[in-house]
Amino acid sequence: MNDIPLQARCERVTTETAGVKVFTLRAQGAHADFLNSLEPGKHVALHYPDTTGTQHQRLYSITRKQGADLFEIAVKREGRGGVSDHLHATLQEGSTAPMQFVAGDISLASIVNYKYVGMLAGGIGITLPIALLRGLLDLSCSGLPVPRVVLLLCVPTIAESPFLQELLELELTMSWFSLHVFVTRETVKSNGHFTAGRPCVETLSLLGLPEAVVICGSHRFARGFREHTLAMFPASKLLIESFTPPAAPVPTEQMQAQDSASVRLHMTDSDQVIEVPAGNSLLDMLESSGIAVPNQCRAGICGNCRIKVSDGEYKLESDFCLSNQDKDEGYALACCTFPLSGTIKVDLKPSV
Ligand code: FES
Repeated sequence: MNDIPLQARCERVTTETAGVKVFTLRAQGAHADFLNSLEPGKHVALHYPDTTGTQHQRLYSITRKQGADLFEIAVKREGRGGVSDHLHATLQEGSTAPMQFVAGDISLASIVNYKYVGMLAGGIGITLPIALLRGLLDLSCSGLPVPRVVLLLCVPTIAESPFLQELLELELTMSWFSLHVFVTRETVKSNGHFTAGRPCVETLSLLGLPEAVVICGSHRFARGFREHTLAMFPASKLLIESFTPPAAPVPTEQMQAQDSASVRLHMTDSDQVIEVPAGNSLLDMLESSGIAVPNQCRAGICGNCRIKVSDGEYKLESDFCLSNQDKDEGYALACCTFPLSGTIKVDLKPSV
């Protein structure tokens, strides 16, 4: 048993863009299995406070691994006082952050055996593609075959685009890689690399005929491009990653008119009933009431917060793991369920 607390010690901080810092971290107190699991493309869970001091668990993609215990993460400052903002402000050389686990299903092994791979990244969602591309570059430089990769990257401005220089150099030097950057919030002259505006459905034809498509970005980005990709490349393997929770539904006029300021949650397994303010995900509601729910991604990917819901009024946002049959049987994900009004029955321990 290893009783040294699992910590990430910050060894170096570099500024990638004005809003993105890269932290080089050393895993301390970790056993060999944990160190082996620190693979680029997977994500590490840090336990760190937000700017008010409230502790949270947050996931960050591992963008590079060096040696046995050194790895990098890239963190974007969000400006909302969250964990990423506090990491930006306080994590510096010599300081530490508690680590909880490494998770994720996507790594170099997920794509290396395909011939054609498409990648779609939104903003800081580039962290997963950059991790995979660095792995492919190493293989390619060793003379090993790698897939042909087309990356469509969507960024607000060129200056806010992390790893852009590295991506442009990769495209210049490696014949197997093509890059298309869509710039949504500034005027750019469209040319071979840059296109002004958001990518549309037709844009996906730039991916050619991919056997696998990696999608990484906000929940909204991943949801939208999952639908488009499924429609356009139904035979492709989808590899989706997202770390942002779904946005709460906008209250309708009817909901505003009916005083829907709070909802009741009836836990059928314990018969406990709680009344909570409406407007958050079921996962947030339960946690803020002191009811623990297993969770990891908070974005509808890992499936750890699987529950059953019925009765009352609630909205199920899109997720990336439940089947239609699961949904027909009443299964839902607490992170993607938004209670709206009435008394909602929640089974926290549904039989599988
Ligand atoms: S926490 Fe991962 S699906 Fe809900």
